[in-house]
Amino acid sequence: MTTEQEKKKTIGLEEIVSFSKRRGFVFPSSEIYGGFGAVYDYGPYGVELANNIKRFWWREMVQKNANIVGLDSAIFMHPKVWEASGHTESFSDPLAECKQCHSRVRVDHLLEEAGVFADEKMSEEEINKLLQKNKEKLRCPKCGASDFSKAKNFNLLVQSNLGNFTGNWQQNPVYLRGETCQGIYINFKNVLDSTRQKIPFGIAQIGKAFRNEITARQFIFRKREFEQMEMQMFTHPREATKIYQTWKEKRWQYYLDLGIKKENIRWHQHENLVFYAQDAWDIEYRFPFGFKELEGVHYRTDYDLSQHSKVSGAKLQYRDPKTNEVFTPHVIETSVGVDRTFLALLTEAYQSEELANGGTRAVLKLPAFLAPIKIAIFPLLKNKPELVKKARQIFDSLKNDWMCEFDDNGNIGKRYRRQDEIGTPYCVTVDFDSLNDNSVTVRERDTMEQVRVKTEELKNWFQTKNLSL
Ligand code: GAP
Repeated sequence: MTTEQEKKKTIGLEEIVSFSKRRGFVFPSSEIYGGFGAVYDYGPYGVELANNIKRFWWREMVQKNANIVGLDSAIFMHPKVWEASGHTESFSDPLAECKQCHSRVRVDHLLEEAGVFADEKMSEEEINKLLQKNKEKLRCPKCGASDFSKAKNFNLLVQSNLGNFTGNWQQNPVYLRGETCQGIYINFKNVLDSTRQKIPFGIAQIGKAFRNEITARQFIFRKREFEQMEMQMFTHPREATKIYQTWKEKRWQYYLDLGIKKENIRWHQHENLVFYAQDAWDIEYRFPFGFKELEGVHYRTDYDLSQHSKVSGAKLQYRDPKTNEVFTPHVIETSVGVDRTFLALLTEAYQSEELANGGTRAVLKLPAFLAPIKIAIFPLLKNKPELVKKARQIFDSLKNDWMCEFDDNGNIGKRYRRQDEIGTPYCVTVDFDSLNDNSVTVRERDTMEQVRVKTEELKNWFQTKNLSL
């Protein structure tokens, strides 16, 4: 069986969507009002997983690199930021209308479905040429018709009326940021002046970004409100290519460390580079709908700092303390979405497993450091106060160190299955023997092996298991 077939057998997108809702990982936003397109909420286990993803990224990028510092810039920025970055002018997707059902569709997606590659940076004219040329092959995803209007570019920036009390804010909107890295560029000088960083150094940030995505599809892969984890490394132009290579390697290794199999990721080089980029590669993951972008690792030259210098008038340059050379640093960017990482991890880890007794179990084989709940604690029976009391004491003794869950609902088999499905690495059961021998049964998720551990040794025992970051 090929890996592709195995993957399909493991999980499809519909299964992930239904699992995510059923087990409290991801809920569609505003569901009681009929939902809200391409917006999602993280449930009780989802928020734990998302936090662990962010913690891991922060540890790998900021904590482990002395020359990278963190930042948390505001979502709102001066509107000129988006003018300087080029977003107000050209941050757009080509949109066409189906002449039969009048639904709006992204032309690059229509072409992709028909097996025609359209680079995201193509002009409106180029896209329309492609649309015309491949007209016969295109199908409306809603009604199947193949008659479309001309494509028009639709700007993806989300607008707001912040600070505008005149009523005509659309003429001068304040944008919700379309990417987090602009907050990094505009703080380049502040960070440089307030830390003792020397080039090459990086600024890292995790935060929300907003885009008026046209098509709401593929679950949390393409959201209108999503979260990015971005790092911008400022380098001397002479060193940029070498540093770019280093970061490509580091970011590849990061996914292996996250527990992703190397056959499920691959590199994709951008064919038509934006004019300012020197080189651009994406790490793609094998999602249930095929290989798609998970992270971009891009060499952006001095474009960003130069643009902000030009539009703001501020000097965003660097003086080498040894040589006194003054120059505009080049930027190496690594940019990944929390949500796409989340979806990749569920795709990777969710499995239906055949058991020796002929049954099956659903299990989320996340690395322990990512698991939402690290240890579940059960009294064997809920109507035996001595068992419940002891199980509560164990819960209290572990909760300061790890995210634990107390569960006394249903039979033990059901409780194991529930914890397996949400990825809990260990379950602790207090049974009648525990009252005499002061030991508990610890069951491991992947092997399902059970061992007896003395309650006073439990904390040390778990400490050796690398459950937390
Ligand atoms: N600063 C560069 C930048 O924003 P991008 O390719 O547009 O580049 C970077 O976005 C990453 O952000 C993507 O690789 C993806 O992981 C995530 N991302 C982008 N748009 C997204 C969306 N609509 N929903 C979820 N994640 C998204």
